[in-house]
Amino acid sequence: MKIKKIGKTTDKKDLEYYVKHRVIPVRFCYPKNGGNRWHRLRQSESYKLGKRELKTFSDGLTKIIDLIGEQINIVHLGPGDGIEIPILFNVFNLNDGRYAGVDISEQMIYNTVRLNKSYFSDINPLWYLTDIEARGNLELVCADVKSKGMNKNLILLTNQGVLLSNLEILKNIHNSMHKQDYLFITIEGDDANKRDEIIATYNLRETRSLLSEGLKKAGYKSCDGTFRTCFNDNKSMVEVYFKPKNESEILCLTSYKPRENEFRRRLKDSGFDIPFLKFYEDIHTFAVLCRKEEK
Ligand SMILES: C[S@@+](CC[C@H](N)C(=O)[O-])C[C@H]1O[C@@H](n2cnc3c(N)ncnc32)[C@H](O)[C@@H]1O
Repeated sequence: MKIKKIGKTTDKKDLEYYVKHRVIPVRFCYPKNGGNRWHRLRQSESYKLGKRELKTFSDGLTKIIDLIGEQINIVHLGPGDGIEIPILFNVFNLNDGRYAGVDISEQMIYNTVRLNKSYFSDINPLWYLTDIEARGNLELVCADVKSKGMNKNLILLTNQGVLLSNLEILKNIHNSMHKQDYLFITIEGDDANKRDEIIATYNLRETRSLLSEGLKKAGYKSCDGTFRTCFNDNKSMVEVYFKPKNESEILCLTSYKPRENEFRRRLKDSGFDIPFLKFYEDIHTFAVLCRKEEK
């Protein structure tokens, strides 16, 4: 299995810079052991958010397939442990298109491959190790995938509330698309009556154990402090803070939980048209298909 590395991923110097500003972005948690911690969380019965998102992913894919056609490459951003793969290949027949998995964590790629061997045995997937939050990397990935497959990409940004809390991500995706490409997003949205349910995900033992990986890299033991989770109404985001003893709080997770009007506006402002959007009200989750806006 070949993994193509593009640009630099996370390093100690970057982390030091962020910690000075009392932030540890979640991307610092995922490499190495973080990949296994994520797998434990993803498989946990208590991770109800994951189940809600998978339902939307599965139903949403069946709704968009006729709009986009099957002659397409799939550029899967952050496959995690690959839990979406069986659903994806149940709906998609790649034909001449290629599957590409893109992640910041080698361990995530290994887990995705190990847990989904039967799906990958005859499709020759492409793997990229890169930080898609840094400018330019995703453009290189998308162009490389096209040079090896069809001239049309479907980018999957599915179940990625954390990545979508970084405003740069939509810019980077937009820059890596052409008019024939599509972007499919699934994400938990806000529901003012279900804030307890929304916040519960971030208080799970397994979630904190994943966050403790980033803290450990920054020199903190999670047992030497306390976590606090809140909903930031102005930003439509869940935020998790860690308070080390005798120091000020560190912001260690943000996850975007949009409301429909504001989400539509943000996608439009980022230069996307929205041929399909569905809000699954009972599980307060969106499935959205985007294209680059025609100028
Ligand atoms: C929340 S998990 C979602 C995984 C999967 N979509 C699912 O639903 O199970 C986030 C995934 O995105 C990857 N990721 C997070 N930040 C990234 C970044 N800046 N660049 C590339 N991959 C990133 C993580 O390593 C992980 O595989």
